[in-house]
Amino acid sequence: DLARDLTGRHVVVSAGGTREPLDPVRFLGNRSSGKQGYALARSAAARGARVTLVSANAALPEPAGVDVVPVGTAVQLREAILKASADADAVVMAAAVADFRPQTYATGKIKKKDGQEQPPIALVRNPDILAEIAGDRPRPGQVVVGFAAETDDVLANGRAKLERKGCDLLVVNEVGERKTFGSEENEAVVLGADGSETPVPYGPKEALADTVWDLVAERLPKNS
Ligand code: PMT
Repeated sequence: DLARDLTGRHVVVSAGGTREPLDPVRFLGNRSSGKQGYALARSAAARGARVTLVSANAALPEPAGVDVVPVGTAVQLREAILKASADADAVVMAAAVADFRPQTYATGKIKKKDGQEQPPIALVRNPDILAEIAGDRPRPGQVVVGFAAETDDVLANGRAKLERKGCDLLVVNEVGERKTFGSEENEAVVLGADGSETPVPYGPKEALADTVWDLVAERLPKNS
């Protein structure tokens, strides 16, 4: 049955945006709402998959029949993804993950000092979760999908990112007023490591989610 083509599969999806705390009242974050990742989770569940949704700071209703793991920071998201992906058939990283985090967390609210023009905020690199999963492939035959939100040279940057991260598919979406971050709609090109390019026209995030699972399903090893 084509409509239930992910039956018997375990898929892991990350959604939302990480928040890297500076002090008890502030964080470094981004504009991800989680809508694209939640649409991916709903679509996979509707197609019969067991779904683990690692959700970073998304204020959205939990999709029915989906196992939601809430996280805050990139380091927590990595822990949750590594745990869930051990037996996963596919991992889709739709979350916007901070590349850097504050080096130290101030337990008291950071105060501005007289005459100080530059805030003393040192940053350190966060782990690259997508590159790690794509490199390690905890389960043989696992399909790994990344996302990239780009503002310029969208396709060239996407192709370079696909190669750098080592994933099978990379969904490239251009940042815009009425797409990608926060909106109900999106528009994308899905790049394949095999050189394929699948354009997805402007429309609801569910439509992009369905195309992603079509492309994943084609690449999964046959059920034994
Ligand atoms: O949540 P919405 O409001 O619906 O918006 C959806 C979205 C715009 C967030 C989504 O469609 C999207 O594009 N997500 C990726 C955002 C992004 O810019 O990613 P990136 O280029 O920083 O990272 C590329 C890939 O590596 C992503 O799959 C990301 O999850 C992953 N990554 C990034 C950094 C890092 N330290 N670890 C990672 O695993």
